[in-house]
Amino acid sequence: MFAQENRLKRMRGKLVVGNWKMNGGLAANAALLGELVSNWGPTPGRDLAVCIPYPYLVQAQAALASTPIAWGAQDVSEHAAGAFTGEVSAAMLVEFGCRYVIVGHSERRQHFGDTDAVVGAKARVALAAGMTPVACVGETLAEREAGATEAVVLRQLDAVLASVARDAAKLVVAYEPVWAIGTGRTATPAEAQAVHATLRRRMDAAGANDVLLLYGGSVKADNAKTLFAQEDIDGGLIGGASLKASEFLAIANA
Ligand code: PGA
Repeated sequence: MFAQENRLKRMRGKLVVGNWKMNGGLAANAALLGELVSNWGPTPGRDLAVCIPYPYLVQAQAALASTPIAWGAQDVSEHAAGAFTGEVSAAMLVEFGCRYVIVGHSERRQHFGDTDAVVGAKARVALAAGMTPVACVGETLAEREAGATEAVVLRQLDAVLASVARDAAKLVVAYEPVWAIGTGRTATPAEAQAVHATLRRRMDAAGANDVLLLYGGSVKADNAKTLFAQEDIDGGLIGGASLKASEFLAIANA
């Protein structure tokens, strides 16, 4: 059983996604993207991507087209077009070559009111446009301390699964405990693996057993290796550490 699971893990491959959040600028991006391009060659079974602020998508497209590094956005509107001031549609993201789009990041849930239903709708429109949603789930510290971790992440995941219906296998799911994001406090590999195993069982039940499950929350070069070695952790969603090329590449190589 153990050997079989390890083989499955190898078959799933590995994905590391940078989430720049609201950071960057033309000059800094050019330097960062340039360093990534110079130092990341095609690596079988390993994929690297950056999710960047909307205005810089055209810059990323120019810098990363015809490289093995993919790019994407950090959010998408659940609406197709029309009177939604400030929003960006999935079709627009596709025009700039986005392969990935993060949906349901805890910062969107906390500060911008993205509900489970909205996150599900965003995942659905991203898939319909041909992108891969990186659907984020994660509990707050209070929820963890109340013993509600599993219930919270499954509720969040189920909303996405209900919305995407038969397309569950096309998702990437990221477990990001809210208390570990940007705090320097990482879930231990065992804590993260326990939640990932729960998510894996749910994805298995949805007929999507080889979906990539990423861990996010204060991943750094020095803790990435033990996290990524866990049975059900297939890579990471990296915030702060994705802004420095050497650190991000070290994580991608972990
Ligand atoms: P962090 O952020 O790596 O800075 O903790 C992760 C995320 O929010 O995606």
